[in-house]
Order: sequence, then structure tokens, then C-alpha cells
Amino acid sequence: MSRILVTGGSGFIGSAVCRHIIAETPHTCINADKLTYAANPASLASIEADPRYRFHRIDIADGPAIAHLMDAEDIDCVIHLAAESHVDRSIDQPAAFITSNIDGTYCLLEAARARMQRLEGGRRDAFRFIHVSTDEVFGSLGSEGAFTPTSPYDPSSPYAASKAASDHLARAWQRTYGLAVIVTNCCNNYGPCQFPEKLIPLTIISALAERPLPVYGKGENVRGWLYVEDHARALMMVLEGGRKGATYLIGGRAEDRNIEMVRRICAVMDDLKPRPGGRPYADLIGFVTDRPGHNLRYAIDPTLIETELGWAPSHDFASGLKTTVEWYLANRAWWEPLQERVYDGRRLGLGGTAP
Ligand code: NAD
Ligand code: DAU
Repeated sequence: MSRILVTGGSGFIGSAVCRHIIAETPHTCINADKLTYAANPASLASIEADPRYRFHRIDIADGPAIAHLMDAEDIDCVIHLAAESHVDRSIDQPAAFITSNIDGTYCLLEAARARMQRLEGGRRDAFRFIHVSTDEVFGSLGSEGAFTPTSPYDPSSPYAASKAASDHLARAWQRTYGLAVIVTNCCNNYGPCQFPEKLIPLTIISALAERPLPVYGKGENVRGWLYVEDHARALMMVLEGGRKGATYLIGGRAEDRNIEMVRRICAVMDDLKPRPGGRPYADLIGFVTDRPGHNLRYAIDPTLIETELGWAPSHDFASGLKTTVEWYLANRAWWEPLQERVYDGRRLGLGGTAP
């Protein structure tokens, strides 16, 4: 039984990881989260009373606080997800991406190094630091091929550059100090509890409000999509069976052009919640100014995690999208308060003016 520190556990993927640990494993889950605009404690309602779940409001860039937490909670391993995650916000206001994603990862790596050195014997050998990253660090593919663990880094957005920097720091701490780091790079996640600034929840919620559905550029950009619970399960398999120093790419071999993805969502909504006048939701789709530096295509080759760890996704587009739309229809109480308090659906990421 391990005591797992999950950073960013109140966010979209982190909350899925926390729910997975409590529901599917015997381990204890310690969630350390700063509670930025993107956090939603309601995502953890199903586990917050469980004696194996604990929460600490902490900024990972606060080195002394995070180092103290590691000892106070007697931590065995770390799954590091805490980050500023939205590409469009990184274009408008990159500062927080540098502080949380780069400085924060540095502070966490230092705290983990000190923690691992204080452990002894089997507990020290078993210590792991899973650094959760993104396919965006590799930049854009052309029309062919897929990213592999040896693809060169070529980030385009401030978000991707900050994640690339954090990946390099994590690997450096492994090579230089022997910290038991494993890096994962995943494609776009979707599913319940995703903050409505991201394409899929934004499309669902805007469609329900009869607002335009903005598709950037010509909608030709291709993204790989993975149901969030498949990612959470993959991360636990990496924690329990992954090789120290390895890089695992996580993706479901499910790529789509953005315009096709938005049309798919509209079709699912036509079935589950037809528009009052009976017209298709796809009528609301409109093409808008492209994202600056918008990468054309991402695709993941997940062969290593499939063959070494036996992971495979259990949701395809059809089942995952239907479950996701159903969840947003049934859980207005999760997202409606966000519209008034935090984000009203306005366009982000056109750059604004320099400070
Ligand atoms: P999210 O924005 O939904 O959640 C991020 C969480 O981190 C929030 O709860 C926030 O409060 C917390 N956080 C941010 N800065 C912090 C800090 N300084 N200290 C402590 N907590 C802080 O993000 P997400 O979509 O769940 O992504 C989680 C991780 O997975 C990120 O590292 C992201 O780069 C990576 N990732 C995301 C995707 C995706 O499609 N969403 C894909 C691949 C990788
Ligand atoms: O690839 C993994 C990444 O996926 C993660 O590292 C990021 O944390 C996560 O936010 C996500 O980044 P994207 O930029 O791909 O996600 P987003 O939902 O913002 O956009 C998905 C695609 O849809 C992208 O090509 C931009 C486009 N888009 C987005 C929005 C919000 C639109 O066409 N219209 C929109 O309104």
C-alpha cells in the first residue's frame, strides 16, 4: 500500500486520477492543489469523505511547503499533474505558465529528491516520480507519421514551451541525481469534469445555450483524443510497472480533424437533446480567426505502453463522447456556477497587447 502524492488533483485529469486511486486501488491519495480558476472541488465529491483521501491547498512553487508536505504525509511516490494547462491562456498571459509549470516543477523535483534520499531500503527503491506531460512538446506533424518517445522537441505555444522545459528538468533530475523519474506524454483528453474553456465542453455548453460554436481557422487541425479515465488508468500502470528513466507516450490511436470532432458532438446532441426548433446543432458552427502558432497535426504512437505494460484504451470516440455529453447534460450544477464566477465562454488566445 503506497501513499501517493497527486499534484493538481482538483483539476480535470488529476481528479480522475484521485477517483481512480480510491475506487480501484488500496493506496492512499494525497492531493496537493493550489486551487486556481481551473480547479473544481466538486469533481472530488465522491471521494472527499474517504479515509484514504486527503487534500492540501498548496502551491507547488512554494518549495518549503511542498518539502514539508512530503514528510508530513510520509509520501512514497508522486504523480505530478499540477500545471497551467490551457494553450489560449498561455498566449494571452504566459507568466503563470512559467511560474507553475517550470518553477513549480523545479520545486517539486527538489522536494522529491530530498524525500527519496530520506527513505530507506525497499521504500527508497520503490520511490517514483511520474511527470505528466503532453504531446504538444513535440510541435506539429505533417500529414504522415506519429510521435514516438524519441521525437525531437519543438514546442510552439508558451504552454508547450513551459511543459517542454519541465520535461527537461524532470529528466535532468533523473540523470544527475538518480531521482526515479518517468515521463509520460499524452494526447488531448476529454470526459467529465473538464473546464469549459476546452474545445469539447465549450462546444457542448455553447450549443445548449444556442451560442455560436467557434472552430479556429478552417478546422483542419488534427488532434488525438483519449477518454480521461483511460489516461488515469495508464498513469497508474506506469507508476506500478514503468521503467525508471523511461518515456511513455499515451494515446488511443483516435485522431480527428477539429471540424469533424465538433460535428460529432453536434450529432450526439441532436440525439440526446434535440434543439427546440428541431434544426441541427451543426448550424451553429462558425469558422473564426485561427489560434496564433496553431500546430496542424498531432498523433501518438503508443506502442511502448501497449507492449511493455499491456495498456489499451477501453473507450472509443462513440462511447466516450456519448458518455461525456450525457455527463454535461446531467451535471449543470458542476459547470453553471463557473460561467458566472470564472469563465463565460468568451474567445481567448488572440494575444492581446504586450505588458
Ligand atoms: P487542469 O487545468 O484541468 O488542472 C490543473 C490543476 O492544477 C488545477 O486543479 C490547478 O488548481 C492545479 N494547479 C495549477 N497550478 C498549480 C500550482 N502552482 N500548484 C498547485 N496546483 C496547481 O489541467 P488538466 O487538463 O487536468 O491537465 C493536468 C496535467 O496533464 C497538466 O500537467 C497538463 O499539462 C497535462 N496534460 C493535459 C492534457 C489534456 O488534454 N488536458 C493532455 C496531456 C497532458
Ligand atoms: O494535446 C494535448 C493538449 O491538449 C494538452 O497538453 C492541453 O493541456 C490541453 O488543453 C489540450 O490542448 P489543445 O489546445 O489541443 O486543447 P483545446 O481544447 O483548447 O483545443 C483543441 C483543438 O480545438 C485545438 O486545435 C484548438 C481548437 N479549438 C479550440 C477551442 C477552445 C477550436 O477550434 N475552437 C475552440 O473554441
